[in-house]
Amino acid sequence: MPLVNSKEMFKKAYDGGYAIGAFNVNNMEIIQGIVEGAQEEKAPLILQVSAGARKYAKHEYLMKLIEAAVDTSGLPIVVHLDHGPDFETCKSCIDGGFTSVMIDGSHLPFEENIKLTRQVVEYAHDRGVTVEGELGRLAGVEDDIKVSHEDSSYTRPEEVEEFVSRTGVDSLAIAIGTSHGAFKFKGEPKLRFDILKEIEHKLPGFPIVLHGASSVIPEYVQMINQYGGKLEGAQGVPEEMLRQAASMAVCKINIDSDLRLAFTAMIRKHFAEHPDHFDPRQYLTDARAALKDMVRRKIVNVLGCNGKA
Ligand code: G3H
Ligand code: 13P
Ligand code: ZN
Repeated sequence: MPLVNSKEMFKKAYDGGYAIGAFNVNNMEIIQGIVEGAQEEKAPLILQVSAGARKYAKHEYLMKLIEAAVDTSGLPIVVHLDHGPDFETCKSCIDGGFTSVMIDGSHLPFEENIKLTRQVVEYAHDRGVTVEGELGRLAGVEDDIKVSHEDSSYTRPEEVEEFVSRTGVDSLAIAIGTSHGAFKFKGEPKLRFDILKEIEHKLPGFPIVLHGASSVIPEYVQMINQYGGKLEGAQGVPEEMLRQAASMAVCKINIDSDLRLAFTAMIRKHFAEHPDHFDPRQYLTDARAALKDMVRRKIVNVLGCNGKA
């Protein structure tokens, strides 16, 4: 099966009350771990690439690896630009074979966000590429931008219909209390399901996206701390809250930090147990296997898209 855009995938997810995992990719081992996990669970998949990932691994290398994933897995796979910062980056990804892009105008005033998003939609739709826009602002770190909890803001439900109809986006990322990175809540985790419900009501049948949706699994945080790391106070979104969101209008759930934590924890553990090792294949084998297990866990516990490929 060739690469697909997100249109059909989201329609099935919306109707079926589940969500698709959008996992960030940066290198071969990460791609292999994700794809093997999805294959074992027969799950449709979104592999997403940030501007930072393109800079790190190079667009052409990532595309070839993703092509190999498509050829060997037989799964429906979307290749998606995560947090597209401007029109030029979106255009370059569309011209370079991506089947979906996000244009992140969430930091812009409403009218400017609409204008930029509309420009990307026009270019993308002419080429069969789907577009995700964003309204509301998440806290946390993405690429070089850090948004404090004080500067973050929830999506305003009264703006969503106008944004979607004037831009023509295919999906909408919203802010309901999730945030990027490993430090999501200072106290009790809380998501604004009331906002999600209101948006669902205003946009019936329309796919919603949740960013910053790692659960920051305690066993991996503990492992990192045990083997010399320093991640005290890390906390994520409880899995049952995400499952609830996936049963509602949320069709795409973005996960990066949980993959990074599992990967890094296993590398730290490996070196603590084998201080004489220096062959990357030895420690990356463990890391890739942990990442695969993490993806399977997400598919089953959070997304509910097992068996939907
Ligand atoms: O939301 C951001 C993703 O976790 C990607 O992170 O920009 O460091 O590649 P990155
Ligand atoms: P996490 O940092 O919670 O994994 O979020 C990733 C994300 O939203 C990528 O766009
Ligand atoms: Zn994000």
